[in-house]
Amino acid sequence: MSQNQHLYAYEINQDFIVYLQAIKDPKLSLLVEDAGNIVHRFGKNSVDVVVSSLPLKNMPLEVKKRILIAAREALKPGGMFIQYQYSLGDFALVKSIFGDTKLEFTPLNIPPAFVYFSRKT
Ligand SMILES: C[S@@+](CC[C@H](N)C(=O)[O-])C[C@H]1O[C@@H](n2cnc3c(N)ncnc32)[C@H](O)[C@@H]1O
Repeated sequence: MSQNQHLYAYEINQDFIVYLQAIKDPKLSLLVEDAGNIVHRFGKNSVDVVVSSLPLKNMPLEVKKRILIAAREALKPGGMFIQYQYSLGDFALVKSIFGDTKLEFTPLNIPPAFVYFSRKT
């Protein structure tokens, strides 16, 4: 991240919130709310990159669709959506919402993970 960039981290799990609050970095803001609020918080076409490690596999279809659609709306045209997952179960869903989506695999993650890359057109 360059000096003029800022990271907003969404988390709703109280156990993890405590750890995130302990990180004192002026470029990090913790948002204790549903990630689906992203459009209401930042507006449409306003965000450069969304990096998600939401557990899509364990989420109800309507909930994950709502959050993914909100993430797409919040991204600027040309903005990037990056999703980490441990399975390919939701690759088709992400592709159906974002369009062209590339798949990569990162063996160095613990555990190794698939990474979906979607650019908003
Ligand atoms: C697989 S963990 C990833 C943890 C961490 N962000 C990371 O990348 O290592 C998924 C996280 O998504 C959070 N989460 C689930 N649903 C959410 C939602 N609707 N809004 C914000 N966070 C959510 C969970 O509380 C959990 O901490």
